[in-house]
Parts: sequence; C-alpha cells; structure tokens
Amino acid sequence: MNKTTENAGYSRAVPLASNTQPIAELYVSPDSAAKLKVQAGELPSWDLTPRQICDLELLMNGGFTPLKGFLGREDHESVVDNWRLADGSLWPMPITLDVPEAFADTIEPGQDIALRDQEGVILAILSVTDKWVADKEHEARGVFGTTDIKHPGVNYLMNVAGPVYLGGPVTGIQPPTHYDFKQRRDTPNELRAYFRKLGWHRVVAFQTRNPLHRAHQELTFRASREAQANLLIHPVVGMTKPGDIDHFTRVRCYEAVLDKYPAATTHLSLLNLAMRMGGPREAVWHALIRRNHGCTHFIVGRDHAGPGNDSQGNPFYGPYDSQEAVQKYAAEIGVELVPFKMMVYVQEKAQYFPQDEVQEDWNVLNISGTELRRRLAEGLEIPDWFSFPEVVAELRRTRPQRSKQGFTVFFTGLSGSGKSTIANALMVKLMEQGGRPVTLLDGDIVRKHLSSELGFSKEHRDINIRRIGYVASEITKNGGIALCAPIAPYAATRAAVREMIEEHGAFVEVHIATSLEECERRDRKGLYKLAREGKIKEFTGISDPYEAPEQPELRLDTELVDPDHCAHQVLLKLESLGLIGRAG
Ligand code: PPS
Repeated sequence: MNKTTENAGYSRAVPLASNTQPIAELYVSPDSAAKLKVQAGELPSWDLTPRQICDLELLMNGGFTPLKGFLGREDHESVVDNWRLADGSLWPMPITLDVPEAFADTIEPGQDIALRDQEGVILAILSVTDKWVADKEHEARGVFGTTDIKHPGVNYLMNVAGPVYLGGPVTGIQPPTHYDFKQRRDTPNELRAYFRKLGWHRVVAFQTRNPLHRAHQELTFRASREAQANLLIHPVVGMTKPGDIDHFTRVRCYEAVLDKYPAATTHLSLLNLAMRMGGPREAVWHALIRRNHGCTHFIVGRDHAGPGNDSQGNPFYGPYDSQEAVQKYAAEIGVELVPFKMMVYVQEKAQYFPQDEVQEDWNVLNISGTELRRRLAEGLEIPDWFSFPEVVAELRRTRPQRSKQGFTVFFTGLSGSGKSTIANALMVKLMEQGGRPVTLLDGDIVRKHLSSELGFSKEHRDINIRRIGYVASEITKNGGIALCAPIAPYAATRAAVREMIEEHGAFVEVHIATSLEECERRDRKGLYKLAREGKIKEFTGISDPYEAPEQPELRLDTELVDPDHCAHQVLLKLESLGLIGRAG
C-alpha cells in the first residue's frame, strides 16, 4: 500500500492505489456503439439466455477481467484442466456461449453475430473465432469434480446448456437494462471510483446469496475489524441456487439491516453474477471478481458456494476446501483471504463465536436453513438471537405460513367418476371458510374457455393439462386456491404440472378412483354408450389409456361414499397438511 496516498487521501498528484485505478471495459464509445448497433441489425443474432446475459454484463464491464469475450476452445480446455487461460492467467470458471445445434449450423468461425437480450435489444457483437461440440462429461468432472446432476452446476451443464460452444472476443454496445434496485447496482469502475472518492484503500468483500441474519452481521463485523478494512456487502442477484429466496426479497432484507452497520464504513452493492455453485473453483472465481470490483480482502466462510449434498447424501466438497483454494491463489489474485469458521450462538454469553473458539461446556444454539424454512412454513417463532425482526417480517411476507399460501388441488379420474361434483362441493366448502379466492378449473369448463380448439389425442390432452397447470400455478403463486378437475390420464404430464405448481405452493393430487364399470353404469352424459359403439374415438378407459396415480396425496372411492362426504375428506386432508384452518 502506498502510505503517502493513504495519509493524504486521493489526490491527482499521487499514484492511485491499485484497487481504485480504473479497470478496462469492453464497451466502445457511445458514437461507435450507435453506428455498430445499426450495422449489427444485419448480422445473424443470438437471443441470450438469462445466464448468458449475466455473464455478458460482467464481461463487458470488466468484472470478468482478464477475459475479453466468451472462451475459445484452447482457453476453455485450459480452464477446465488447469484453472488457467491458455496464456497462464488464473481463471477457474468456463464462461461459454452455449447454443443449440440448429443455430450453430448457421454460424462459421470468422463471422460476427449480434448478441441480444430477451426483448431483442442488441447488447454486443461476438466475433466468432471458435465453434466446437462441448465435451460436457469432461467439463463436469473437471470443473465440478462430479457428473451427478444433483449438483446444480452439473444439472445446468447437462440439461439446460446447449450442446455447441461459440467463442471469441466481445465488443460491448450497451449493458443489459435492469429495472429493479438501479441505485444499488455498481459496475467495477463505479465501485472503484466510490472507493477512490472515500479513500477506501482496504475493502473487505462479503459474498452472499442469503438474507443477512445476526451470525452474518457478527461475521462481517469481525472480518472488517480483523482486516482493518471497510466493508462491501456484495450479494449476488443474478442467478443463485435453485430454491433460494428471490433477490427482490433479499435486497429488501439487506436494506432493512443496513442501518445496523456504520454508514461511513459499509457499502451495499448488488452483483449480477450467475453462480455455478462450484465450491473451491467458484470461491477463487469470486475472489477474482471482487478484486476486479476494487476489493482488497475477501471473506470465505464455511462451505463457500457449496451446492449441498450429492445423490448419496454426501457433501460435494469439504467444508473448508474453498478457503484452502483461495488461500493458495490469494497472492496471485491480489486479494487477501479473510477465513471464517461457522459462526454459532453461545447462549450463556448471548453472543456469536466462530465454532473453533467455542469452549466445550458452552451451550451452543443454531437454526439450520431447513429448520428456518419449517418455522416460516408453520408460522412458528424465529428468535431474536437468530435474526432481526425486520428480516423475519420480510421473510414472512414472502413465505407466509402454509395456511396463508396458495395451493392447488388436482383431481384426476375417469370421465363420470365424480371429479366435477366433488370439486364443486369442495369449492363451496372452502368459500364458506373464506380467506382465499377459489377458482375451479373443471375439465368441461376449461375445454370451453381455454382449449376449445383441442381434441383428445395424447398431444392435445397434454397441451390441455399443461394449460390448466399454468393457470393453476399462477393462481397458487398469487395466494389463491385452484381446484382442477380434468381427466389428466397421463402420469408424466401430471408430474410436470406438479413440478410447475410446487415452485409456488402445495400440489395435492386427489385420485377419484371410481371404477370403469361404475362410471359406465352411471353414464351420466351418455358418452360411454357412444364410445362403445365407436361413435366417439379415443375415449378414456374404452379406447384410450388411463394411468392411475401411484401415490396421490388422497384416493377417494365414490362407490361407497357420497360427494359431500368425499369433499369433506379432502378438507380434512388439506387441514392435516396445514393448508387450511380446522375443518368443521
Ligand atoms: S383430458 O384428457 O384431461 O384432456 O380430458 P378433459 O379435458 O378432462 O375431458 C373433459 C370432458 O370431455 C368429454 N370427452 C371425453 N373424455 C375422454 N375421452 C374422450 N375421447 C372424450 N370426448 C369428450 C368428457 O365428458 C370429459 O368430461 P368429464 O367431466 O371428465 O366427464
């Protein structure tokens, strides 16, 4: 560190501290950008995926220095095998432009392509130097140390990313537009300028993808004290681990606790990074990115960027592998590691301590992520020693207890099995209870209003059920109750709908198990007779399959019990799942 600079504060007469010097970006001047944009209109274009948009933003603004674009083949192989670019510079994470074969077939090295955001706005031009078919298994093993798709990075690589990679330098035209939290987003140069202005020559960065609770606050306080540095709270708002709390909620949580930090020494800035959950490699990558953003120190805690457990229930990486990796490369990166053991609360001291400082006879309290989610779901107490009331209130707003969340009841069964009658009875009972809006998506009604053009082929039935699933998932997301009552004969389609809905709330599958004989005996619409006579084709149960659910949440037999009683049984099930208050 330059002492003169530190004592005098920033002045043009003295050299800038290295963490506050401007960093190179890949953008051209506004005039050139305007011209390039017109020319780029003629080029073949690629609509970037959400992850590629995150990567491109950090490429263009210098956050991924020393990269100049999406990796070419030689660099890619070197990164996967050696954590370094082909020229030897440290870079542990492959940044690739993955595309489908059909698009790749239209592109040859030597061509330029326009990179557009999801609304079609041109953000950059890629001058393609390399095109090759990815060896994903080798990449998964090399980068993540596994091919187990329980690892979110591996799953993305295998099941989401396209099969062909395009590489080459990027010419930046404009950054992606963000409509949210604009004032909290900073490019590396904006942060460097901020540190320069305030004379922050030592800055310790805290990376997070979770809300800040008291343990994090204690950790960040200790880290900045130990490093004698200012604190940058630098949460990831691009893409994190699937299932994480959304970034809107998290940022409101960060803002709620910001006044617990001394304003003069702490800054909150959002990082539009797409994480890969790659443990040690990711930690080194994070440290490089923070160096690029002007930080001099980097906090690495327990299981940094950890992807959770593998299919056998074992952790993918050791709890402190990330610390070791960052320590190994710290000098080369130009960032000092600030390592932390897990922070735990010691009851008799009413204080947090790193686990390795806890004495044997001390009483340690801890609430795991799973336990926190359970308490939120059931509306149970979350103690003050664990988090801040403002953060808990924000989390409760986003994850209300189950009895206040939306949910879907999905009836399935043969035509004439009694689905509609029971669903109608259930709707009336739920409306009598009140509290949440109830929508009935009955098979016949949906076919009239949503799917009037569809027939009964497998393909059309699947489209019909997916439409019902989409509407039900929107209702569930918005806190309502959706009651669906289609035949839904295919197990795989029902499973897809379940997945869609469980992102937002509970999915309760109810099999109305009335036998074909009974449905045919009742034949309330006269359709079975017509189907037997061959006058209706592809009729479920007669000339088309019905795959009964193997493990529905509830199975009802309408031959022994009347519809009112059946609806009551569903109510009791909903109550036992904590979705409604006590059924009368
Ligand atoms: S599916 O398979 O889930 O898309 O079917 P769904 O939309 O629930 O069907 C609604 C009603 O269509 C009548 N119908 C038929 N059902 C089955 N197979 C064939 N070929 C057919 N043609 C017409 C039938 O009355 C269904 O009503 P419900 O309420 O189930 O009796």
